[in-house]
Amino acid sequence: MCGIFAVIGTSNNAPQLTFKGLSDIEYRGYDSWGICFSSDDLFKTIKNIGFLPKTFPEQLSQVSLGHTRWATHGGVTIANAHPHSDCNNELILVHNGIIENYLELKAGLRKHLLKSETDSEIAIHLIEDEYSKSKDLSSSVSKVFSKFDGLNAIVVTNGTKIVACKKGSPLVLGKLTDGYCLASDPNALLPLTDKLIFIEDNQMVVLNDKLTISDLKTKKEIQVKFTKVIWDYASSTLQNYEYFMEKEINEQPKVIETILNNSAVAEKIAKEIKSAFGTYFIGCGTAAYACLAGTYLFSKFAKKHVNFSIGSEFNYIEDYLTPKSLVVAVSQSGETIDTIEPVNAAKAKKCKIVAMTNTLGSTLYRTADYKLLLNAGVEKAVASTKAFIAMLSEMILLTFMVAGKKQAGVEVLKKSALEIKNILKNANLLDELVNKIAKQEHIFCLGRGLSYPVALESALKIKETTYIHAEGYAAGELKHGPLALITKGTPVIVYVPNDETRDSILANAKEVQARGAYVIGVGPDNNPVFDFFFKVKDCGASSVIPHTVFAQVLAYKLALKKGLNPDKPRNLAKSVVVR
Ligand code: M6R
Repeated sequence: MCGIFAVIGTSNNAPQLTFKGLSDIEYRGYDSWGICFSSDDLFKTIKNIGFLPKTFPEQLSQVSLGHTRWATHGGVTIANAHPHSDCNNELILVHNGIIENYLELKAGLRKHLLKSETDSEIAIHLIEDEYSKSKDLSSSVSKVFSKFDGLNAIVVTNGTKIVACKKGSPLVLGKLTDGYCLASDPNALLPLTDKLIFIEDNQMVVLNDKLTISDLKTKKEIQVKFTKVIWDYASSTLQNYEYFMEKEINEQPKVIETILNNSAVAEKIAKEIKSAFGTYFIGCGTAAYACLAGTYLFSKFAKKHVNFSIGSEFNYIEDYLTPKSLVVAVSQSGETIDTIEPVNAAKAKKCKIVAMTNTLGSTLYRTADYKLLLNAGVEKAVASTKAFIAMLSEMILLTFMVAGKKQAGVEVLKKSALEIKNILKNANLLDELVNKIAKQEHIFCLGRGLSYPVALESALKIKETTYIHAEGYAAGELKHGPLALITKGTPVIVYVPNDETRDSILANAKEVQARGAYVIGVGPDNNPVFDFFFKVKDCGASSVIPHTVFAQVLAYKLALKKGLNPDKPRNLAKSVVVR
């Protein structure tokens, strides 16, 4: 998704810092980029489509704005890439979000020369109109920003000052020894500084030789207070791995261990779940599957009903929420707008909010009443792996806490961490399978009960990294339609744990085998129906964890076999901050 980085300071290295900042948020996904800096009272802009180059030519400047764009309004072209300038190249802007009423606002810009198809560019021309009258950048930016509908963040400069405003789109300020930097993601700032301020909605930041932050509505100044953030930069680099996805898969046993060593917040949340009049787990994509797994876990092991909804659908079924409802919003990034919007609506109804997130200081983290950090470390591969395992681990722990059997939860999680290590040690056993199925166009993943969310997650991982059409199904649903798609050789992965689903899922495996499918069995015991078997030891309630790791490794290996970069799937972004 789009990324912003901006610097103002007394050193002349602003363009280099901007280039480095954009490189640190590359993982979020983008299709074009641009960096602008002031040079001899003029702005110089370098833009291109595709990825950032390995190096950036040395340029001397104290002010610079940079952007990585993920196209929404207008195609992937150099003209549409940010930064955008006013008609005279005196004012420069970068923008994240969508100005929903941009067509209406554009109507007043007939005298301006628009060079792109973006909603972003109209912002800088509107600011130009205001600035030509007042020569006051802060008031011009604030006036124009307040006209925008939608969720946006903008950063504007006239070469001596930077002004930024945000509403619903993240923006973080960092303090340098000789200036300030702003970014849409703290990961771009943390290599430079540990002193951060997470800018709140409807606030304006003005940076020149001093810093002011004010409320856009009341115009009142806000006390500036930097938070010191502890962060291990080395852990966010590739180290000896070729791809982040491989590194993040390998970090998973450690992720579980960290969760087990930090369970105090989970204890508090378990109490809230016990006393709530209705608990709702919401999330998107992989996080949604962790939420769905939560409903099976709570029902089976805590005998408790909890509700599940996809984040982007929760808005439409929120009418029954009351102040006694508890909403547990699950999001790796803590910035997914499809999760944050329904959270805001629930908050307006006075529900209590729990954020289960991997990102300290994220919008979700700041919005929530209870903050359950996943502590998985930065996740950079677009296809989520270790964050999902962290979410599942927290779900298991919460379930057993609510059931009053925390130690049993701890034991199954420890088992699953050991089993992940076994899977990683035996990963080469998957090579034969990878060779067999890499050229297939369709793969089906089947599970029942707790293995149903695993089947959904497996299919999502395979889709993202390999572009093979993969479908996850509740195995019982197969005969209600999808069975028509099974033909000779279609790979079908079946999850067969040692639980109440075993006999039924084996029967489903036989059904697909009878239609010619190539059956891939995953679980503790081999069975004659399997054409390929991958052994995963029984970990009880935690079997979902090693089963998922099987699928992660398979998806990763399939991507490599197909010559694809598993870290950067086409069309996808790491953090989805638009609707
Ligand atoms: O940051 P979030 O957990 O809120 O992200 C939600 C989804 O966008 C995310 O899980 C997505 O589905 C991943 N690419 C899955 O690998």
